[in-house]
Amino acid sequence: MSARKIIIDTDPGQDDAVAILLALASPEEIEVLGITAVAGNVPLPLTEKNARIVCELAGKPETKVFAGCDVPMRRPLVTAEHVHGKTGLDGPELPDPVMALQDQHAVDFIIETLRAEPSGTVTLCPLGPLTNIATAFTRAPDIVARVQEIVLMGGAYFEVGNITPTAEFNIYVDPEAADIVFKSGAPIVVMPLDVTHKALVTQPRNDAFRALDTAVGIAVAQMTDFFERFDKEKYGSAGAPLHDPCVTAYLIWPDLFTGRHINVEIETTSELTLGMTVADWWRVTDRAPNATFMGDIDADGFFTLLTERLARL
Ligand code: BDR
Ligand code: CA
Repeated sequence: MSARKIIIDTDPGQDDAVAILLALASPEEIEVLGITAVAGNVPLPLTEKNARIVCELAGKPETKVFAGCDVPMRRPLVTAEHVHGKTGLDGPELPDPVMALQDQHAVDFIIETLRAEPSGTVTLCPLGPLTNIATAFTRAPDIVARVQEIVLMGGAYFEVGNITPTAEFNIYVDPEAADIVFKSGAPIVVMPLDVTHKALVTQPRNDAFRALDTAVGIAVAQMTDFFERFDKEKYGSAGAPLHDPCVTAYLIWPDLFTGRHINVEIETTSELTLGMTVADWWRVTDRAPNATFMGDIDADGFFTLLTERLARL
């Protein structure tokens, strides 16, 4: 089987970085057509720079990185330095990138790529707020039917919220964009907090990254150590959730995950529950299913896969 062509849309972020590394380490299954940066965990100048830092860490400076939207569609940007640090990639000391940022705007790249590649052959992998994707869908509605699948990290149901009591960060930052994407009709697979809060970097898993004794292994151990401080304190759990790599792991080994094909709507008006993913998990409405909402993960299998792939870089 040929590798699946993807665009990674991202706001690195330590967990975004690990998701990118996993994709770049897996050329047999994944062909990264480009990485599009969006404002999210930190402002755009940092997310696009961090994406390039990660490509160079992976030894893949030929990867195309594009800068996209610097603010959500209709709201001021909310960032998460309290989780990811001032740079967004706090933890390891990594050199500034030498590779150039592409001149083209990320939204233009997404539109152009979906029009140029055969219909149904490009998968979008959003790991941050959905601003770039929704902007592309709004400007070029013809591309929606050409998307093979959208596999995204965002939302929550049983785990409710991490940035407000009811909203997950990526959806909360740009709920209007999320609403456009979830209503688009493109096939969607969602990795919500319900899954990622089971993908915990426990000490033995962190030790396994470090034991690779490579630049990548050590950097990933340091990155996960960094945001662990925040998450362990917050959740009192055995380790920090590694959210975004669930997306790229799904492309390699979908059987690690189980979920339900259900209706998911985004709250865009309530001040109290803004950005909530209203997931009809129990199928109590007659609203049409629009997403496969994952609920469980084989966490040991996930970390075995991740560590084995990171060793290849
Ligand atoms: C999501 O928010 C960001 O902080 C992480 O990178 C992840 O994409 C988790 O809510
Ligand atoms: Ca992210």
